[in-house]
Amino acid sequence: MADAEITVHTAASIDRIAPEIHGHFAEHLGRCIYGGIWHADSADEDGFREETVSLLEDLELPVLRWPGGCFADDYHWEDGVGPQDERPRRRNLFWAQGPEEKPEESNSFGTDEFLELCERIGTEPYLAANVGSGSPQEAANWVEYCNYDGDTELADRRRENGREDPYGVKYWGLGNENWGCGGQMSPEQYAREYRRYATYVGTQSNLMFDHDLELIACGFEGHEWNRRFLEEINEAPWGAEFPLDHLTLHHYYGRGTNVDEADEDKYDRMLAEALEMERHIERMAGAINAVATTRDIGVIIDEWGTWHPEATADNGLEQEGTVFDALSAAAVLNIFNDNSDVVTMTNIAQTVNVLQCLVETDEDDAWARPTYRVFDLYAPHKGNEAVRTSVDTPTREVVDGDSNDELPLVSASASVGDDGTYVTVANLDCRGEQTVDVSLEGTDLNEDDISAEILFAEQEPDYAVTKHNADEFTADDLAVPSDGSSIEVELPPSTVAAISIE
Ligand code: AHR
Repeated sequence: MADAEITVHTAASIDRIAPEIHGHFAEHLGRCIYGGIWHADSADEDGFREETVSLLEDLELPVLRWPGGCFADDYHWEDGVGPQDERPRRRNLFWAQGPEEKPEESNSFGTDEFLELCERIGTEPYLAANVGSGSPQEAANWVEYCNYDGDTELADRRRENGREDPYGVKYWGLGNENWGCGGQMSPEQYAREYRRYATYVGTQSNLMFDHDLELIACGFEGHEWNRRFLEEINEAPWGAEFPLDHLTLHHYYGRGTNVDEADEDKYDRMLAEALEMERHIERMAGAINAVATTRDIGVIIDEWGTWHPEATADNGLEQEGTVFDALSAAAVLNIFNDNSDVVTMTNIAQTVNVLQCLVETDEDDAWARPTYRVFDLYAPHKGNEAVRTSVDTPTREVVDGDSNDELPLVSASASVGDDGTYVTVANLDCRGEQTVDVSLEGTDLNEDDISAEILFAEQEPDYAVTKHNADEFTADDLAVPSDGSSIEVELPPSTVAAISIE
């Protein structure tokens, strides 16, 4: 008798899973850029850390957001172009502490270096422009520097800096957390600023480039804030038109959970907090549907992941990379698949060394974290058609839970593509095994067409990655017997599996 049952409704399409749902975020914070991706002391084009670049390239990131975060609204892009030894050194207002003694901003990693990184790893760049302390002119100039092919001073400056062809940057964020570090604005104030910026960055400049820009506004976890922002957006005089393609929110969880405390109640609570992602997406999509009725606005989660108490500004927001964090990513990626009709992009925070990074480095090496393995296992979903699943799962009451009283112990999602059906399942129960029956509605199964892999079967939930054990977290083959009508999947505690059915 199975503990849980998953029925995949292969004919009930949700939408195409945007590959950008597997996007990432890298900020000038601690050892993410400097030390993790770029050697701060390097003054030539070989400053990239090849081991990091190679791991990121293998993962095929669809999109990378930069330069912040809070840093974005204190960043002036012209500081970071031109000869590296002539660039001004600045203080880093929001991330003034960190593992380095003087974590000032050298500006040796700037626009051209970031866009070269994106080309090296084959990812689409997403630039976050400064709204909090910048100007619409500065933002529009940045777009021109990156994307214009004509005969202007800014296009020529890019050429002088070594880049002949326009980069064609498509994604432009206008501000970051403008309700907080991005200028402490009310939703109405930010909406008015957004309209001003979008006029210069989008409406006019769209005419000058060979491709469309997609403009992104930064929203909030709270429904009320987004509703007020969108209402003010609609108040544009004379029905003025300006682009607003995506609205974002940030969702971090685990601030009450130290990774080294093997406290199962806290693990449950952190997972329940992670699963609140679904509610945030629904509420944001609801605000868009209710208010922005004439616009097609996608939901982006451009910062998400675990943030444990051990990650503070003092240590550059560094925390261990555990199985447990990876498990939460699996559950959240299932939510993104299930909401592929509204979610257009997400960016886990942050790519290297910071928070729930996928890659960790020391002076000499770079290695993949358990969360990297989850993204790799989920990669076949990218671009597939997400389909509905019914998950009949046991639940557990969460001790001291805030809003989710019951933690569903099994999380799943499914998609259909050229290679068949792909189902990902996570056992969120850190105390016990779950036996799960998976069936495809109206489909007879042939065992020869089924294969499966599992992550973390041998590890405890609080087991953390180091450079010496990183290979232990790779996926293993999993035997999944089938009686022709369903597939039996045995999931040890805190594991993630993927089942492929041709
Ligand atoms: O990712 C760390 C910080 O978290 C970002 O700078 C900010 O946007 C968020 O509050």
